[in-house]
Amino acid sequence: MNARLISFDTHSDERGHLSFGEFSNNLPFLVKRVYYIYDVPSKYRRGYHAHLKLEQVCFCPIGSCKMLLDDGTFKKEVVLDKPDSALYIGPGVWREMYDFEPNTVLMVLASDVYDESDYIRSYEDFKEVVG
Ligand code: TYD
Repeated sequence: MNARLISFDTHSDERGHLSFGEFSNNLPFLVKRVYYIYDVPSKYRRGYHAHLKLEQVCFCPIGSCKMLLDDGTFKKEVVLDKPDSALYIGPGVWREMYDFEPNTVLMVLASDVYDESDYIRSYEDFKEVVG
């Protein structure tokens, strides 16, 4: 599956923690866009799409949520519940986000600007694209 967990580096001392990702060590692309999802009621699921070309890195600096990943053959569930644990998702992976804890912020770093034509929003189309 074109998705994997990434560990951000963390410097910790008595003042707290500082975590960072840096191209190309543990951030595999140059970031062109950042967006974040928050105040998601726990009963809602979001996502329901894949991308044709976009690469993304997702993490929860605050709180936690789960992600279902599906490449058309295999499915797996990933829990994002640590500020220094991120998930890389490449093209061709269907994702759904759910079980947002109250006050969660899901940060997403993206390799390109927003382009609706890069989305596959129908699961039927997704199955056709990934063959
Ligand atoms: P949507 O794709 O429904 O979010 P999710 O994948 O979490 O279910 O996005 C909500 C709206 O925001 C939709 O109209 C597209 C818009 N949007 C932007 O304008 N720019 C962006 O960078 C993103 C990610 C979404």
